[in-house]
Amino acid sequence: MTQPPFVFDHWASAHQQRVEEVLSRTLPSEGTLPGHLHEAMRYAVLGGGKRVRALLSYAAAELAGASPIAADASAAAVELIHAFSLVHDDMPCMDDDDLRRGKPSCHKQYDDATALLVGDALQSQAFECLASTSAPQALKQVQVLATATGSRGMCGGQSIDLQSTGKLLSREALQTMHQYKTGALIEAAALLGAYAADHTHQQLITTLEQYSQHMGLAFQVVDDILDATADTQTLGKTAGKDALQEKSTYVSLLGLEEAKALVNTLYAQTLQLLASFGPQADPLRGIAKFICERPF
Ligand code: IPE
Ligand code: IPE
Ligand code: MG
Ligand code: MG
Ligand code: MG
Repeated sequence: MTQPPFVFDHWASAHQQRVEEVLSRTLPSEGTLPGHLHEAMRYAVLGGGKRVRALLSYAAAELAGASPIAADASAAAVELIHAFSLVHDDMPCMDDDDLRRGKPSCHKQYDDATALLVGDALQSQAFECLASTSAPQALKQVQVLATATGSRGMCGGQSIDLQSTGKLLSREALQTMHQYKTGALIEAAALLGAYAADHTHQQLITTLEQYSQHMGLAFQVVDDILDATADTQTLGKTAGKDALQEKSTYVSLLGLEEAKALVNTLYAQTLQLLASFGPQADPLRGIAKFICERPF
């Protein structure tokens, strides 16, 4: 029997809906004490976001032969860490942004102290979620996510970002910053999905690492391009902030055209990486295209 052609949009919306349900089940209800904190956590996580990291977990799981059920904890955990990073990124002591996912940022809707605690609690929730499965490789997943979140991953990248504001970084330093602040979590998303399988071949891990290193960088370069070219309504977050805040970005270093050319090169290299895989890599191919061509 021939397989129906793979349609990325259908696959993506089914899995976006799936992770939304998992997240909603995972987060304590507003009725659970302390209701105020749980309400704010749900506000920051649910009903918004492209869910790219969750999609990556499901896609990598599919490639590794794990079921979507096995990958639910991975997908939810990376989205919880990501939501925590956004809540803190928007706070006045960081990027000071009032708008996120088309609504007031967490600290605007609530207050700074609540936003701080929401980030802290979402981080713990992510690890609780991973550690609550009986997956044979759960400990590996916890370790991968912890490293990607901490000082040698997202938090480290955010620190470099703040330290670099107003300075002209070398291309190498900029790449390191992007790989830490955004690439690390994108890579963790893919690896967690692969480790949702009972066994994972090292060859597959190596391919996923290479895929995510390209796509993690591309993701933040596109974010930089969109900050400079798209409008606030399309983005659901304040456009034009990077230039205003003198952030070091690929657009500020290379200009728009060269930044776009870099994304195209990374996309072509990524497709090449997946060339020897069959249809089971179609979701990863679709995510790569989405990351490089997304309008928001
Ligand atoms: C924004 O991430 C922050 C970056 C790491 C560039 P996303 O563009 O994935 O944000 P959501 O989850 O879709 O809102
Ligand atoms: C944020 O980068 C990366 C994170 C770890 C949250 P940005 O500061 O560029 O993200 P946006 O543009 O506010 O979403
Ligand atoms: Mg930032
Ligand atoms: Mg920001
Ligand atoms: Mg940005």
